[in-house]
Amino acid sequence: MSRRFAKLCDVEDFRDEELLEVLRSILPERDPATHVERKVWEFGQLALFLSANGLMREDVSALAIGAGDERILFWLANRLGRVVATDIYGEGDFASREAASSMLVDPASHAPYPYREDRLEVLEMDARSLDFEDGSFDVVFSLSSFEHFGSPAEIARAASEAGRVLRPGGRALIVTECFVRRHWRNSAAFDFAVRVGTLGFKRRRATPRRREVVDQVFTPRELRKRIVEPSGFELMEPLDLSISAESFENVARYGAGGRLEPVSGSFYPHILVQSDRSLFTSVALPLRKPAA
Ligand SMILES: C[S@@+](CC[C@H](N)C(=O)[O-])C[C@H]1O[C@@H](n2cnc3c(N)ncnc32)[C@H](O)[C@@H]1O
Repeated sequence: MSRRFAKLCDVEDFRDEELLEVLRSILPERDPATHVERKVWEFGQLALFLSANGLMREDVSALAIGAGDERILFWLANRLGRVVATDIYGEGDFASREAASSMLVDPASHAPYPYREDRLEVLEMDARSLDFEDGSFDVVFSLSSFEHFGSPAEIARAASEAGRVLRPGGRALIVTECFVRRHWRNSAAFDFAVRVGTLGFKRRRATPRRREVVDQVFTPRELRKRIVEPSGFELMEPLDLSISAESFENVARYGAGGRLEPVSGSFYPHILVQSDRSLFTSVALPLRKPAA
């Protein structure tokens, strides 16, 4: 691959003309050079990853896991042979947001632009138990969802399922959340010590392996142990954890009611998020299933 995909989202990525060009096509209504946001970076990374691997073709089938109604589904339906979107539509924390049940019966009502409706299937399916034969897809992807699949064991189960349904030699892109700076108090060891020290009164869900606070963000080691290794995939290049100083300029913090409040008062650029005492952003994992 001629560009780096295994990396953290960074403000500097939005100076890359190739990324900006593909984002203009995915989100034609806005200027990606000014609307600098990690969500659209995820779309751009996926589109460029498929192109770099020669997979933006009519004979390619792709599975989206925890897909919600992400707009890249509709964009890909205009370019690939088959796109299958799966999610627990109508259930869970996102049932009234990204994963509305209307996506199952009327995906077109979620589409930002006209798309080839016969190329997109939307199915209700739990990521931890995918109802497909082994090796059914050329591509598997998941954006901002693995962190929501539950306990470490449930996340590993979803990774293993992703690995099973991809064909040998196929490609996967998993984008999730990764710590940029993790405060020592945001660790499983600390949470578990609080649980033991309070005789289970506080941090009841904490275990020696599971944080209770900031539990939907991975350390680089957890990415490897909970996603890459259980999937059976190979990470296609070393993960670059560097991030520019500029990316720290508009950290968004969770305020009252869980609303994100950026320090500048302006939503953009939206790259780093503070949760409790730690900082995180999106990370992309470009993956390959070894050929049989
Ligand atoms: C933050 S949303 C991301 C949605 C979409 N990928 C996007 O980027 O807009 C997380 C998604 O994970 C889905 N999800 C949570 N648990 C799931 C599970 N066990 N199986 C499948 N999807 C799940 C949610 O329903 C939700 O749509």
